[in-house]
Amino acid sequence: TLGIAITGSGSAVPATFLDNQGLMELVETSDEWITTRTGIRQRRLANVGESLTDLATAAGEAAIAMAGITPQQLDLILLATSTPDDLFGSACQIQAKLGATRAVAFDMTAACSGFVFGLVTAAQFIRTGVYQNVLLIGADILSRWVDWQDRRTCVLFGDGAGAVVLQANDSDRLLGFELRSDGTQNDCLNLPYTPDATELLPGVVVGRGNFQPITMNGKEVYRFAVQQVPEVIDKALFRANLSVEEIDWLLLHQANQRILDAVAQRLNIPEQKVISNLAYYGNTSAASIPLALDEAIRQNKIKPNDIIAASGFGAGLTWGAAIFQW
Ligand code: ACO
Repeated sequence: TLGIAITGSGSAVPATFLDNQGLMELVETSDEWITTRTGIRQRRLANVGESLTDLATAAGEAAIAMAGITPQQLDLILLATSTPDDLFGSACQIQAKLGATRAVAFDMTAACSGFVFGLVTAAQFIRTGVYQNVLLIGADILSRWVDWQDRRTCVLFGDGAGAVVLQANDSDRLLGFELRSDGTQNDCLNLPYTPDATELLPGVVVGRGNFQPITMNGKEVYRFAVQQVPEVIDKALFRANLSVEEIDWLLLHQANQRILDAVAQRLNIPEQKVISNLAYYGNTSAASIPLALDEAIRQNKIKPNDIIAASGFGAGLTWGAAIFQW
């Protein structure tokens, strides 16, 4: 099989931020509660005129520039999101904005696991020799779907986009992966669509679009993440024929500092190897891993040939890990 490499990264976040102090004006909460339970201090929020397509395109442009290719060279644009501007998908709008005329573009949804699932999906197209240059974007604007009166959820989320360029490469730098799903636990975390009954004609009752805000069983999600994430990382490491000591960076979905700490502890990975930027962005869902990756690369924290263990986990439930070399 052919190899793949990540050759560029990029990210974009809205300019507007909301800190914990600001949240205290919206709901009964405190900076102390939020920081001790989650580690989050502020989050970026997309203004009403700011689209997911805009954020994702900006992240994509930065990744393409770092990779040193042109948009016209892209064969595929894969957008991992749960919050497209259009339910038919937003990837095609990104393709148009980038001027990536040759690229096929489509959306895929796996909630907070979207980036890792997308990475593995993109890799299959490259490994089979079908495509050479892929732009993978993880982007979400969860602020559109949060109940801003529900303190159990509204303090957690933020908006953003991150992207990587994946290219065919002589040596394979995606070293191992493991993906999982468990629909029996679906009700832990939902952004439900509950159609309202509308009788068109006698006996013909259709449902009309009616979205409910995000609901979450925080304790269950916490338990799930801390139990399952170390397992898939172990499995992906096994497939990569690597030991946990050989990991340079642990890059988890940025849901909550307590989850990051607990997973690192279970894997016996020292704190200095754990990448965390959730204090500034909150949980940005599919964007969180590529956003943190891009920051760490641009800060020269992640260096060429470093080995990164990335893991996404979230609604579905879905979870997965990918071990790759920068
Ligand atoms: N401010 C103040 N008090 C709050 C807040 C808030 N923002 N939210 C909840 N509380 C209260 C609750 O009402 C409850 O009060 P009560 O005991 O009087 O009923 C008390 O704090 C404790 O609530 P719990 O839900 O038990 O708090 P817990 O310690 O479990 O922390 C948290 C909640 C932070 C959500 C935790 O469960 C967690 O980290 N879960 C992981 C979920 C997660 O990260 N989800 C992200 C989305 S999922 C994903 O990306 C995969």
